[in-house]
Amino acid sequence: MSMLSRVGHVRRCAANLSPALGAVAARQKHTLPDLSYDYGALEPHINAEIMQLHHSKHHATYVNNLNVTEEKYQEALAKGDVTAQVSLQPALRFNGGGHINHTIFWTNLSPNGGGEPQGELMEAIKRDFGSFQNMKDKMSAATVAVQGSGWGWLGFDKERASLRIAACPNQDPLQGTTGLIPLLGIDVWEHAYYLQYKNVRPDYVKAIWNAINWENVSERLQSAKK
Ligand SMILES: [Fe+2]
Repeated sequence: MSMLSRVGHVRRCAANLSPALGAVAARQKHTLPDLSYDYGALEPHINAEIMQLHHSKHHATYVNNLNVTEEKYQEALAKGDVTAQVSLQPALRFNGGGHINHTIFWTNLSPNGGGEPQGELMEAIKRDFGSFQNMKDKMSAATVAVQGSGWGWLGFDKERASLRIAACPNQDPLQGTTGLIPLLGIDVWEHAYYLQYKNVRPDYVKAIWNAINWENVSERLQSAKK
């Protein structure tokens, strides 16, 4: 039996298992998601060179390293090697977080972005921050103030049913580390802006508001509330 037909057989068997077991047996590797716009589509706010490197190199590296880490983790689990499992956790946090964060980030941006949100999202922003401008100012300040590399976030606190602003270092994923559900993230790793904005992070943060896809942020709020 060839390798290909064996793989096909395994997949068919997996389909007959219970949904949970089938999902484990047929677990696919993580893949780099496509962007729904061209690398140059967010110009002049974020240039094409940044977008290309950021997506095809930086995000791709997180995806590749996440897959490698998960494979090692599976081996450690299979052996019952708890020490190896614990030692893999920083890599899982970093590369898993990098994949989660960037996957959200690309959808938070749009060539038709900017302006102000509508409907329920806007009402929630006014309720929790007083005004849209105040939310923007607070989120910008928190994001610019990230020491070293990290992310600024607008998140949803499900317990309090309210919006919150937070900042996370490195690639720590918002929900996994704070419990807040991510709605909008601003990447302030230098790879996200240095080629265009050099060391002037505040100018990049100011410009990115012109590319925010508020429809996506609204959809995320709707999902978070369910
Ligand atoms: Fe990034």
